[in-house]
Amino acid sequence: MSRLVVVSNRVAVPGESRAGGLAVALQAALGERGGVWFGWSGKTVRGASGEIREHVDGDIRYVTVDLDRADLDAYYNGFSNRTLWPLLHFRLDLVDYDRATRLGYNRVNEMFADKLAPMLRDDDIVWVHDYHLIPLASMLRERGVGCKIGFFLHVPVPSADLLMAMPDHRRLFSTLYAYDLLGFQTRRDNDRFQSYVRLYGGGRIVEPGLLEAPDGHRFRTGTFPISIDTPLIERQAAAAMSKPALRDMRASLERRMLAIGVDRLDYSKGLPERFHGFERYLQRHPEQKGSLTYLQIAPVSRGDVGEYQQLRNQLEQIAGHINGAHAAPDWTPLRYVNRNIPHATLTGFYRSARVGLVTPLRDGMNLVAKEYVASQDPEDPGVLVLSLLAGAAQELPQALMVNPHDLDGVADAIAAAATMPLAERKERWHAMMEHLRERDIHAWRRDYLAALEAA
Ligand code: F6P
Repeated sequence: MSRLVVVSNRVAVPGESRAGGLAVALQAALGERGGVWFGWSGKTVRGASGEIREHVDGDIRYVTVDLDRADLDAYYNGFSNRTLWPLLHFRLDLVDYDRATRLGYNRVNEMFADKLAPMLRDDDIVWVHDYHLIPLASMLRERGVGCKIGFFLHVPVPSADLLMAMPDHRRLFSTLYAYDLLGFQTRRDNDRFQSYVRLYGGGRIVEPGLLEAPDGHRFRTGTFPISIDTPLIERQAAAAMSKPALRDMRASLERRMLAIGVDRLDYSKGLPERFHGFERYLQRHPEQKGSLTYLQIAPVSRGDVGEYQQLRNQLEQIAGHINGAHAAPDWTPLRYVNRNIPHATLTGFYRSARVGLVTPLRDGMNLVAKEYVASQDPEDPGVLVLSLLAGAAQELPQALMVNPHDLDGVADAIAAAATMPLAERKERWHAMMEHLRERDIHAWRRDYLAALEAA
């Protein structure tokens, strides 16, 4: 079996960051084959970028690189998160395009390629993750790297007409042709990328999933819906119920039902719309008023980016307004928390919640939706209210599907979830769980790596 080299902006170095679902899956893949995980160290330094840090754990070598402030601003805060992130989430109105940040993005990718190329062997298999590193394969090829290189995009692909609105789009997106396999979360993302290649990218579709670049070179695309470690989440959620944090939270509800949302504080998550939808629920369903408390956990994310700071202010205002207008002396309808909560505790919160609110305006997949389902008590499962604009909607049709822009629809779905009979809750939950048990995170990485090796 070839050695695996994973490349991503963030690296889950043991002991330094919490191992999320993706980290666990990639670590398992690296553990099976032995390999390297390469990326940004998460550290900003004075002086020049490029200092290398190494950490070895069994057969896995973690190699990370420091970035200086200017590089991080241009590459991460700038081009990745103020240009590509809004563009890929269909938000042309928020795209801030700047030639200087684009140059910084290229500079950091070149530096990564310089550091990584000498570490690679001919029979390695390299797996690059996400929009921060689009041009990396083409830069590795320029440095003589000939091994298999695959890419997986963790965010959506918008329609071709949005992609082509970015200045000089083709110069960036055509670097994707240097990969052997491009993996997308859903079929629609894969289809939209292929349309882009055909309409504006100068390439041709030989057959669905097999594309030809302008120079005649061929490469593949495929759909690989990312998922969760289903049995682990099930166990974690059941075990969390005896934690003091869970007991305290449940006692504070005073027998009221709980609705929960957990999202990074990001405009793609539709939080203002969700807050307004919850207020609409209080107005449209006065008979339920006081029976359900909504807990929104939204850890601050990308706090150096202006749009994220504005969103934070906006949410504080709306939350204050809702509680001011609807709270009673003994009840606060909306609890809004910006703190990070340990993952195991979160799964216990999911299990305690009759309603799971996952209503992004756009999301590549959304693993909170899947974790909410996997955390439920089989004897008394809660109901997932899910945006049809999340990738997860393709896989979880038994959720109560909503359009996050339709506040009345969101309001009525919350009311329906809160009153749904047990038999119907169980029936919907079983169907979703069966799918999640079969298509878990390990199936995802095995399918992807098998396709890359065959490409
Ligand atoms: O959703 C895309 C993504 O890159 C995820 O893979 C990741 O969990 C999230 O964004 C985190 O963003 P950041 O690294 O900017 O905090």
